[in-house]
Amino acid sequence: MTENALIQNLTCLLAWYRKNARKLAFRGTRDPYRIWISEIMLQQTRAGVVEDYFVRFMQKLPDVYALAAVEDDELMKLWEGLGYYSRARNLKKCAQVLVQQYGGKFPAEYDELIRLPGIGFYTAGAIASIAFGKPVPAVDGNVMRVMSRLKSDSRDICDMKTKRAVFDELSACYRAIPGFTESGDLNQAFMDLGSEICIPGTPKCGQCPLQAGCEAYQAGPERVSQLPVRRKAAEKRIEKRTILIIGAGDGILLHRRPSKGLLAGLFEFPGLSGHLEEEKVLSYVESLGFEPLHIERLPEGKHVFSHIIWDMICYKVRVADPGLEAHPDTDAAALAEEETEYGRQQGSSENQEWIWVSSREAGRSVPIPSAFATWFEAAGISEE
Ligand code: ADE
Repeated sequence: MTENALIQNLTCLLAWYRKNARKLAFRGTRDPYRIWISEIMLQQTRAGVVEDYFVRFMQKLPDVYALAAVEDDELMKLWEGLGYYSRARNLKKCAQVLVQQYGGKFPAEYDELIRLPGIGFYTAGAIASIAFGKPVPAVDGNVMRVMSRLKSDSRDICDMKTKRAVFDELSACYRAIPGFTESGDLNQAFMDLGSEICIPGTPKCGQCPLQAGCEAYQAGPERVSQLPVRRKAAEKRIEKRTILIIGAGDGILLHRRPSKGLLAGLFEFPGLSGHLEEEKVLSYVESLGFEPLHIERLPEGKHVFSHIIWDMICYKVRVADPGLEAHPDTDAAALAEEETEYGRQQGSSENQEWIWVSSREAGRSVPIPSAFATWFEAAGISEE
């Protein structure tokens, strides 16, 4: 496809967006802070889901200064359910850099934005274009899918080389249009087209504004169905786990995960590796120093991370009230694990942290990842 033909398609796309742009809570602003936060959230989940998170986040942390100063647990609570918590930690890190080195203001240039913590080439493109009108694309999965079909391009869209090439090609087009400052709208037009019409699987070509210029469409439905080409994702490792909802009075026992690795620093229901029988669970609970009164098997749960799948069974165990400040005897538990081959509690014992909280408090202010959402209700946790 020639540059001129591509520019013609981009012009059609922009005209379509003018009539069909989705109205979303995070749109209609040129505030780079709002754009940045929404774009990072949008890397985790769909636009419709992001809206609520975005509104709540902006109420609590309305600017870069508030974000730079927020307590980690409060930040994690605001992020709870979105996944990839390291992204939220990077938000705070980046806000601190902006406050300390940039006077609290975002740089406008792509080349500077991309040097900030947690800002990659997609996010830098989105902020530079939407907030500052710079002629740069924001190349995400939507753009790659649309471009692969538009140009009937068989290259692997997951390959960084292909993404770079698409970035360079679109950049050249944006710069070739004199005085072009609508890059923000054009980039969002790609996103709307990619999520509404040029969708994965079977796209809605009948409604597409680019039908006449689309090389895959012109080649026929079989070609459309072959695109985009993406390399097969690596197999995910399945990890069996046993989750324990340990309750006493109206309190539940939570464990803080280690500061590095999966779900770092977040709270979880205590968990052991493997699928354990009731008896083993009971003696584990005893080894923590608690007296089990009742045990009940709850429904199973599954959570898919980027590289691992947790295949979880769960028990709810009521124990005799251990007193407010009682902490599990983790040394004894570690010993018991060695002796009886319990699954190991992940993480080293020195950075383990256990808390008893009321279910209400857990729902309100303790960050518990949605990997455990299957049992929130059974644990009496309701999201407020
Ligand atoms: N996905 C990623 N960024 C988006 C945006 N700005 N609008 C809609 N969908 C998006």
